[in-house]
Amino acid sequence: MTTHLTVTPSTNALSDSARADAMRVLAFGRTFTDHMVTIPYRDGAWQQGELKAYGPLSLDPSASSLHYGQAIFEGFKAFSQPDGGVATFRPDQNGARFNRSAARLAMPDLPVELFMEAADALITLDRKWVPQNVGESLYLRPLMIATDPFLGVRPSLEYLFVLFASPAGAYFPQGVKPVTVWISEDYVRAAPGGTGEAKCAGNYAASLVAQAQAQEKGCDQVVWIDAVHRKYIEEMGGMNLFFVYQENGKTTIVTPELSGTLLAGITRLSLLQIAKDLGFESEERKISIEQWRDDVASGRMTEAFACGTAAVITPVGHVKAKSFEMTINNFENGPVTMAMRDGLLGIQHGTTPDTHGWMHKVC
Ligand code: PLP
Ligand code: COI
Repeated sequence: MTTHLTVTPSTNALSDSARADAMRVLAFGRTFTDHMVTIPYRDGAWQQGELKAYGPLSLDPSASSLHYGQAIFEGFKAFSQPDGGVATFRPDQNGARFNRSAARLAMPDLPVELFMEAADALITLDRKWVPQNVGESLYLRPLMIATDPFLGVRPSLEYLFVLFASPAGAYFPQGVKPVTVWISEDYVRAAPGGTGEAKCAGNYAASLVAQAQAQEKGCDQVVWIDAVHRKYIEEMGGMNLFFVYQENGKTTIVTPELSGTLLAGITRLSLLQIAKDLGFESEERKISIEQWRDDVASGRMTEAFACGTAAVITPVGHVKAKSFEMTINNFENGPVTMAMRDGLLGIQHGTTPDTHGWMHKVC
């Protein structure tokens, strides 16, 4: 099945009934499949990888990722298909972004073919873990950490690539319902020249106090604004943002332009295309906090939603900031948001033609 991985099946894999129990109620990120992939990097090259039982990693306490945060990750999904097969959604894009993150953190490039081969091999071996229902998927989590046992601050000479999988239900336990968001004016996620565009662990560590503040304010998620002007909307905790405008019978979806400080989401990229397919206009441009507020007040902006691999598409129903708060679309799921969501899920679950060739057949 694979050429570059040594396969050692787990002797501890769950029985069919234990796995069915584990998958009865799917949350996000709590249950893991029987196997994982590890590929070490040393002497300037990726070494023989392994596909083996899921389990703890052994790391030297001086491993530099534990101290200086040379750590990146990705997230993408495999979906059951109507023909009984399994397909992943745009894994090549995740592989390419993984390498852009690696480059920013002075980590080695992992060939996209090896990234995809690792995923295909893991999914094929653990295919019984791929959930069957619409809205459910097998979430793949690739990561790379620096493993050099050395306390000097410099790029590590040794790394470990790890890939594991988790059957996933909805990211937000309340299902598809609008979320309330807090615009963070006290904390900054990313500044020009920083690591905002990379999917590195430190970005998420730095976001946690802002997310806690959002929760103290009764909100589900934090919205980040730009670090320089402190006024333009960038993105949410783990999602990109879209704004829906209805004017003169025309629907336009607007998303913040890629400024170098926000993550170039693959869901974002895909929705810009799906919007076109559905006959909507789309724009990538700056949008300020004031404009968001004014356009909701004037009725030009009718919906807002967030999107990402884990969260798919989630309506934004209420916005709070230090100086104002507002409700969007009566805190209801809007028609454009739901049309975009159905368009995306249709392609992912194989019920809508994959006209852009986004699905990668695994098994
Ligand atoms: N923004 C951030 C900060 C994220 O962590 C994610 C999730 O990966 C996204 C946006 C959405 O990206 P994608 O659609 O590729 O999952
Ligand atoms: C994803 O959507 O894959 C993410 O990485 C978001 C979050 C869970 C960090």
